Amino acid sequence: MKILVTGGTGFIGSHTVVELQAKKHDVIIVDNLSNSSADIVDKIALISGIKPELEVFDLTDKDLTSDFFKRHNDISGIIHFAAFKAVGESVQKPLLYYRNNLESLVNILQGMKDNNIKNIVFSSSCTVYGQPDELPVSENAPIKLAESPYGNTKQISEEIIKDTVKATDINAVALRYFNPIGAHKSAIIGELPIGVPNNLVPFITQTAIGIRECLSVFGDTYETPDGTAIRDYIHVVDLAEAHVIAVDRMINNKMKNNYEVFNLGTGNGYSVLEVINSFEKVTGLKLNYKIVDRREGDITQVWANPDYSNNELGWKAKKGIDEMTLSAWKWEQALANNK
Ligand code: WQD
Repeated sequence: MKILVTGGTGFIGSHTVVELQAKKHDVIIVDNLSNSSADIVDKIALISGIKPELEVFDLTDKDLTSDFFKRHNDISGIIHFAAFKAVGESVQKPLLYYRNNLESLVNILQGMKDNNIKNIVFSSSCTVYGQPDELPVSENAPIKLAESPYGNTKQISEEIIKDTVKATDINAVALRYFNPIGAHKSAIIGELPIGVPNNLVPFITQTAIGIRECLSVFGDTYETPDGTAIRDYIHVVDLAEAHVIAVDRMINNKMKNNYEVFNLGTGNGYSVLEVINSFEKVTGLKLNYKIVDRREGDITQVWANPDYSNNELGWKAKKGIDEMTLSAWKWEQALANNK
């Protein structure tokens, strides 16, 4: 089936394209390359043997987006990744985030409505839960006031999609990611943070390879066993596979409701120090890090209750933390070798 992947040259998008192609889907990517580069399609082809079609334009452009859907009204499903996602940057530039993340979504939904395209998988985030009152966190947990404009765009996007599903015959699945890390086993694609990484694992691997001097651990006075914050890290390939299952579920009319939400986490929480320990164990390296103050906006701990995704979606994360940290390291080494 023909699947549109917006943001398909990005970290999770590129891994999802590879898994879609493995399931014989025909993929077209739309990306404005604001956070990635066009040569990712060649890297995807190195893995899958198939170079996905790529159209480069900005989905906040109403006319270009409308024209795209008129030319591709045979799309069976959309997986929508394209969005800005840096929590800290969203606090500095809220209007950029609201315009980019919301206008692009509205233009896509309008294009679907005008061209009778039925199915969309939306890239959401566990950020919508804030600091959950109960752990593990299930899909019916209350949505908390967003801690950042980025998190707010995810909450608002879910609401926009819910209302659109009610008013049209569009079906939607929102996938709430926990913390995606790691890289494809080939080390041909992986996370490509531009500038100083915001996220923990790319900062760890860049410190270990010598790009960064020292990792700062943001606080060790949290109410957790070792004092550092806990997250549910999930391998990006496990995450990618869930997107293929979700879009196939829609295409094959397996949905129970025309708007469904699934948590994509492993159900295991790891602290920052535990992630560092895993990295040191699998690489045999000693990581240079220091404990500093907490980062504004960070929550103490979150991990998913994956039961609904496991039982209803028929998906379960398979890779453990050591495989995640080792794959991230192999990717960082490959980047250094190809400089
Ligand atoms: C993880 C843990 C930090 C960097 C965010 C978004 C989420 C998703 C993933 C987009 C925290 C600690 C981090 C560092 C550190 N984004 N840390 N030193 O904040 O849980 O989630 O990124 O999809 O929606 O909210 O991820 O990797 O930034 O932080 O100690 O240099 O590592 O305090 O406890 P986060 P993260």
